[in-house]
Amino acid sequence: MKILVATDKPFAAVAVEGIRKEIEAAGMELVLLEKYGEKAKLIDAVKDVEGLIVRSDIIDAEVFDAAKKLKIVVRAGAGYDNIDLAAATAHNVCVMNTPGQNSNAVAELVFGMTVMIVRNLYNGTSGTELKGKKLGIHAFGQVGRNVARIAKGFGMEVCAYDPYCPANVIAEAGVTPVSDINEMYKTCQFVSLHIPATDETKKSINYNLLKQMPKGAVLINTARKEVIDEEELVKLMEERADFRYVSDIAPSNAPVFAEKFEGRYFFTPKKMGAQTAEANINAGIAAAKQSVGFLKDGIDRFRVNK
Ligand code: 3PG
Repeated sequence: MKILVATDKPFAAVAVEGIRKEIEAAGMELVLLEKYGEKAKLIDAVKDVEGLIVRSDIIDAEVFDAAKKLKIVVRAGAGYDNIDLAAATAHNVCVMNTPGQNSNAVAELVFGMTVMIVRNLYNGTSGTELKGKKLGIHAFGQVGRNVARIAKGFGMEVCAYDPYCPANVIAEAGVTPVSDINEMYKTCQFVSLHIPATDETKKSINYNLLKQMPKGAVLINTARKEVIDEEELVKLMEERADFRYVSDIAPSNAPVFAEKFEGRYFFTPKKMGAQTAEANINAGIAAAKQSVGFLKDGIDRFRVNK
């Protein structure tokens, strides 16, 4: 049996070796397709594999149509908005993610970007500190929990809003649960987003929500650009010269930011949150184990499609 690792943004070499070991130890073959650029190469590579491991690579109906032998796709990471789950189910393919495996890496980048923006992009002028400031964590999943842990090290006051996470779970992590989203945005100078991109959340971070943030507001987005109403964010930043935005990947209207908001934003050129050796090893090897477990023994823990 063959498992294809198709990563347009490759894993660290050390992680690929770990993945190879897992797959070969199970008597299976690893097929590696990195930096493939064009979709046609992916379509060609999926034709005779039973398993597929990807990152943010787009796996749509066309890919499933081409992958006649495919039984499992594992998204080595948390967000699976890049995979057409309905098409997977229609083709009788199991889809899984590897929750938590890259969350520390993403959480560390939150602070990498936050310190960078409050120190004025290291331009030599006097910035501000994080100690004593209030951070709101929007969604208290695996990344949100790591963000809370690190924020406390900086001496920040931390609260979290998550309608899907019981308040006692948030409180047990030493974080103040907030039941009203507006209350969190009103009181937190810093807000870090950790919501998935779903029909419910897309464009939900909008003008009316963000305008409530206190003076010197910093919005930190290591989730997905789709959760932001990008036009409304521009409108707000036009109105409020104190508002700053850092994001792990540029918004669709990035040129507007370059033209209008110099010094008030930072965007990674490629999604970098999970791009560490440790996260690649954790997520990649978990994906390999889950693929093998499913192909050999039908274990479907972490399945995300019905
Ligand atoms: C995730 O959803 O796990 C992160 O956004 C990481 O995505 P990546 O594997 O494309 O870096």
